[in-house]
Amino acid sequence: GSSDAIKEPKLPLISLGSGSKAQPCLAFCLQIFINNEWHDAVSKKTFPSINPATGEVICQVAEGDKVNVVGMRWVCFPWERVQRGSVLVTSPRLFRKPCCLLQALETLDNGKPYAISYLVDLDMVVKCLRYFAGWSDKFHGKTIPLDGDFFCYTRHEPVGVCGQIIPWNFPLLMQAWKLGPALATGNVVVMKVAEQTPLSALYVANLIKEAGFPPGVVNIIPGYGPTAGAAISSHMDIDKVAFTGSTEVGHLIQKAAAESNLKRVTLELGGKSPNIIMSDADMDWAVDQAHFALFFNQGQCCCAGSRTYVQEDIYNEFVERSVEKAKARVVGNPFDFKTEQGPQVDEEQFKKILGYISTGQREGAKLLCGGNAAADRGYFIQPTVFGDVQDNMTIAREEIFGPVMQILKFKTIEEVIERANDSKYGLAAAVFTKDLDKANFVSQSLRAGTVWINCYDVFGAQAPFGGYKASGNGRELGEYGLEAYVEVKNVTIKIPQKNS
Ligand SMILES: *[C@@H]1O[C@H](CO)[C@@H](O)[C@H](O)[C@H]1NC(C)=O
Ligand SMILES: *[C@@H]1O[C@H](CO)[C@@H](O)[C@H](O)[C@H]1NC(C)=O
Ligand SMILES: *[C@@H]1O[C@H](CO)[C@@H](O)[C@H](O)[C@H]1NC(C)=O
Repeated sequence: GSSDAIKEPKLPLISLGSGSKAQPCLAFCLQIFINNEWHDAVSKKTFPSINPATGEVICQVAEGDKVNVVGMRWVCFPWERVQRGSVLVTSPRLFRKPCCLLQALETLDNGKPYAISYLVDLDMVVKCLRYFAGWSDKFHGKTIPLDGDFFCYTRHEPVGVCGQIIPWNFPLLMQAWKLGPALATGNVVVMKVAEQTPLSALYVANLIKEAGFPPGVVNIIPGYGPTAGAAISSHMDIDKVAFTGSTEVGHLIQKAAAESNLKRVTLELGGKSPNIIMSDADMDWAVDQAHFALFFNQGQCCCAGSRTYVQEDIYNEFVERSVEKAKARVVGNPFDFKTEQGPQVDEEQFKKILGYISTGQREGAKLLCGGNAAADRGYFIQPTVFGDVQDNMTIAREEIFGPVMQILKFKTIEEVIERANDSKYGLAAAVFTKDLDKANFVSQSLRAGTVWINCYDVFGAQAPFGGYKASGNGRELGEYGLEAYVEVKNVTIKIPQKNS
């Protein structure tokens, strides 16, 4: 019903540089955004942004690399508290202004259904920025009495120049999650956007200028990890790096930080999140949510419920109904309002997922539906369900990041906690049960940064998100999300005991 409210997508006329002015409100720059100005790469190199629904090139984008990053100088730090609040407050309104353009760009570049870009992603972006705008004059220090004739007060000072490296699965939203807390606390940002999905972030750079951020507060570099990303991580004048992406790259970033200037590091990495369905759960709701937990966003979520543990007495029915649901999932043109699943983001991911599917079959998991490409062009994959999955199989241990569901059987609550916890990851988990004691027991036993009870993928800008173990460190969103962006300064004062 809500699709009636969605505006028809208007696709922009896109070409590299600022020359294309046929539709002035839609033309925008596809270069490197530094000091509120657009620059070519020092190397003059560009790279193609690909439409994953067709495999065709959308446009060329300037490729920032090491030389661009190393040459950057930050002039505007720190910037005024009052200014932070006012420009952050303006920005959510600006995001709504280009009507459906941002959503259309997101879908064109990433492949996610337009209805989702429209109703979910952009809505969350606006709420996130609005939330952090509110913090810009509230996240302050304390006054602390000390023993003797002293007291101290703390100041929350900006960390400084923050490198932020964002992924391709939620380009606009991850940009907002990163910009919000960094800007609310007075930092300046140099952000590398994923090479698969640079377009919406570059459009946002235009909005940043329009919102009135001082030059140099937000700098955006499209480019690749091994060049631009590595240069940020090892830069001697960058004080902090925040990264969202794979655990493998997380290791590289932490190492680069250690070997350069010990910059602060926060990481939001991979997961293999257990979703535990107890036999007393509401069956309809549990099947529905387990499907959503795995298949949402083409399965490209770090917190995807990618190990569905089902208690033995409801296992058969649950599997049967999950397969039915997967078969009914509508895969196709992401600009069609009926589409529930678009293409995977690129050819590399597409091939990797198909590789995991054949590994699953080879290792003896039962392929119950799907398993193949879903179209003869573009990177579409059939919604796939595996049953009889064992804990030691590759598909139960590694992050697939695609529309491939693993269902595992368990007997007792103690057993499932141990099995769920036996993973190098600890990003998220969920339990479905009507028994409050079981829900509490499971949620307290699991080592995971988020536990959902009788729901999945519920996100709000107010609540922290992040991982235990190899899923990363630090938290994003909420008041906790601000901590990584401030240094706490302790100022200690002697109190005179008599008036001299
Ligand atoms: C998993 O463990 C079982 C029992 O020890 C063994 O037979 C099987 O080969 C293992 N599978 C994998 C993929 O390691
Ligand atoms: C799982 O949790 C238990 C305690 O709840 C802990 O002893 C064990 O080391 C954990 N295992 C992993 C792999 O984290
Ligand atoms: C501030 O420094 C004083 C003196 O070193 C110390 O006693 C106090 O605990 C510190 N306060 C905080 C909040 O770190």
